[in-house]
Amino acid sequence: MRKIMMQQNYEAYQAEDQAVWQLLFKRQWENLEDKAVPELWPALKAAQSALNGQAIPNFKELSPLLQKEQNFSIELVPGLIPVEEFFALLAQRRFPSSCWLRKMEELDYLEEPDMFHDTFGHIPLLFNAQYADFMQEFGRIGLQVAHLPDAVAALERLYWFTIEFGVCKNAQGQAIYGAGILSSFGESIQVHKGQNCEFRPFLLESVLKHHFHKHEMQSVYYYLDNFQSLFGLLKSVEQRLLALA
Ligand SMILES: [Fe+2]
Repeated sequence: MRKIMMQQNYEAYQAEDQAVWQLLFKRQWENLEDKAVPELWPALKAAQSALNGQAIPNFKELSPLLQKEQNFSIELVPGLIPVEEFFALLAQRRFPSSCWLRKMEELDYLEEPDMFHDTFGHIPLLFNAQYADFMQEFGRIGLQVAHLPDAVAALERLYWFTIEFGVCKNAQGQAIYGAGILSSFGESIQVHKGQNCEFRPFLLESVLKHHFHKHEMQSVYYYLDNFQSLFGLLKSVEQRLLALA
């Protein structure tokens, strides 16, 4: 695997970047209050000294904090990376993140995930021990099947409908845990209201076959009965994928 060595040039962020971060963080923290899985809040609090609305997070603080809490670190990457590299990082308990931030005029639409998506969306739940283990296990399984295109496609769909766009059902409706929704103001409202979208029970067979569309809000979400049931999925996933070999 290519060694990825990227550094965050913290001094290069301008005052406008800091203003974008503060606005995004505050807006979404308030917006998610009644929309996210309850497990998000202790995780966000555990990350809070290095991930908060005061300033753009400094990875020299955030990564060691995550390392100390869950033995997971953050690896800065230029953007989307080859899938095998991605699996390998997760298997080593390293989470890839970008360090560029969207501009004020593109607050709500992005071609590619920026650091608000990566840090606010993905990093907090890595402070949850079971979730961090799940991510490592996901990477380990990915590495095992990386040479099988059908298995990789199935894993990408699983990732999409859980880690990126996962929801759980609760008494109030949908509770969000997917990073793509957690980091999106508009999509978190769409999911909460249940408008312009359909919720289907999480059936592994359907998820692994579901073609998804990037660059637009999702029209279908698969819901788990609760956040805990996410952690039981990978055993049957591994069996199914190895059967494709
Ligand atoms: Fe993501």
